[in-house]
Amino acid sequence: MPFSRRNFIKTSTLTGVALTLTNQLKAFSSSKKDKVRIGMIGVGFRSHEHMGNFLQREDVEIIAFADPQQRSIDEALKEYKKYRKNEPAIYKNGNEDYKNLLKREDIDAVVICSPWEWHSIQAIDAMNAGKIVGIEVCGAMKLQDCWDVVNTSEKTKMPLMMMENVCYRRDVMAIMHMVKKGMFGELIHGQGGYEHDLRGVLFNDGKTAYNSGVEFGKNAYSEAQWRTQHYIDRNGELYPTHGVGPVAIMMDINRGNRMTKLSSIASKARGLTKYIKEHKNGGENHSNAKVKFKCGDIVTTQIQCANGETILLTHDTSLQRPYNLGFRVQGTEGIWQDYGWGENNQGFIYFEKQMKHSHRWDSTEKWITENDHPLWKKYGLIAEGTGHGGMDFFVDHAFIECIKRGTDFPMDVYDFASWYAITPLSEKSIAEGGQVQNIPDFTRGKWKTKKPVFALTDDY
Ligand SMILES: NC(=O)c1ccc[n+]([C@@H]2O[C@H](COP(=O)([O-])OP(=O)(O)OC[C@H]3O[C@@H](n4cnc5c(N)ncnc54)[C@H](O)[C@@H]3O)[C@@H](O)[C@H]2O)c1
Repeated sequence: MPFSRRNFIKTSTLTGVALTLTNQLKAFSSSKKDKVRIGMIGVGFRSHEHMGNFLQREDVEIIAFADPQQRSIDEALKEYKKYRKNEPAIYKNGNEDYKNLLKREDIDAVVICSPWEWHSIQAIDAMNAGKIVGIEVCGAMKLQDCWDVVNTSEKTKMPLMMMENVCYRRDVMAIMHMVKKGMFGELIHGQGGYEHDLRGVLFNDGKTAYNSGVEFGKNAYSEAQWRTQHYIDRNGELYPTHGVGPVAIMMDINRGNRMTKLSSIASKARGLTKYIKEHKNGGENHSNAKVKFKCGDIVTTQIQCANGETILLTHDTSLQRPYNLGFRVQGTEGIWQDYGWGENNQGFIYFEKQMKHSHRWDSTEKWITENDHPLWKKYGLIAEGTGHGGMDFFVDHAFIECIKRGTDFPMDVYDFASWYAITPLSEKSIAEGGQVQNIPDFTRGKWKTKKPVFALTDDY
């Protein structure tokens, strides 16, 4: 369904919205925008999903792409042309050409969908060039990167939104809604992770992105070009935000609570080598069968929070397994566990009092349906059919609405820093035999007074 301004005004009540103009985005409130002009940095597959959402809106223009690969540019242009007739400006002259995109004065915000090693560098350059930043998910390369991004945002007064789409998954939002209503009592423990067999993503034949071969690096295509190298060089929780994001929001992390320490351990690494050896395009004698992968197949990270809760994250992407982010939310009054793709019935739930101390799980279906988040109730029809079961719609919608209204992002630069920091801290912990690492307070004390902002209304 095209998401035109008319639809938007019909479906969202712009009036009566409590606009809390606080902190960083205050700077923009004086220049509230009707249209947001975007530059896309990195236009591989992930960018297509954002572009599809942006270009269906009349309040967004995509002004330019920066990406050094002609193939990515060509495919992104095909995507773009589905919605608009004109052509965006193209910056494709190598890895640093995004800096020329940043010089343009007709761009308000950039969306960074490049390989992980570029995220912090490009975010910092963008904020220094006066651009608002939306940034895709991963973990930091170094702890210092998190500080550098926070410091740049504070210095330039440029806001950054962590574009963690799983926070908007329908079942996750229903559980958040139940948590806020107090149905789980006081939260005690949360779990999540990235439990997704990525073997067919980490290797391909250089022509087709998924499940087509055992090549990586320059012989491969899309994520296998760069993501796989991280598994060779690093042993840690490489992808923390899908798991930690939803739990962090439910536990008011950085808004009345914070993550204080973590410790990680890693299993041995077997899955990727086995995959290469057994693949029809690989084999025992394929040169990649000799590659040593440093990242353990299962990396678990336990986190302590200031208010006494614990969080357990699992990174599990190198073995055969069905997809599941492994959420668990447990409080004094209730417990939820998911086991699937986020369908309403793919989970177990238990509330001792309502279930008369039965000690038996109930299916989540009725509970999730009855407690559907107001945002999903309102935008569900529009969101369905957009990327990742609809959650991509909401993350892009929030990004644009916050910029237009000059309100705080629901996941801000401090969320970015504390979630991204898990990766380098987990690497250090594993290297030190599971030693506990302190998680810095990137808010410098502001977590004590910052208030929750995530999806408080049915607006964005
Ligand atoms: N939130 C989600 O559900 C989700 C899903 C998939 C990927 N991602 C994330 O999105 C990001 C991109 O992933 P992808 O699947 O699109 O990968 P991809 O490899 O398909 O695309 C990355 C693009 O970045 C380009 N690039 C490389 N160096 C660059 C530079 N210096 N400047 C600009 N562009 C550069 C590459 O040429 C490529 O076109 C990653 O952080 C990934 O983890 C998120």
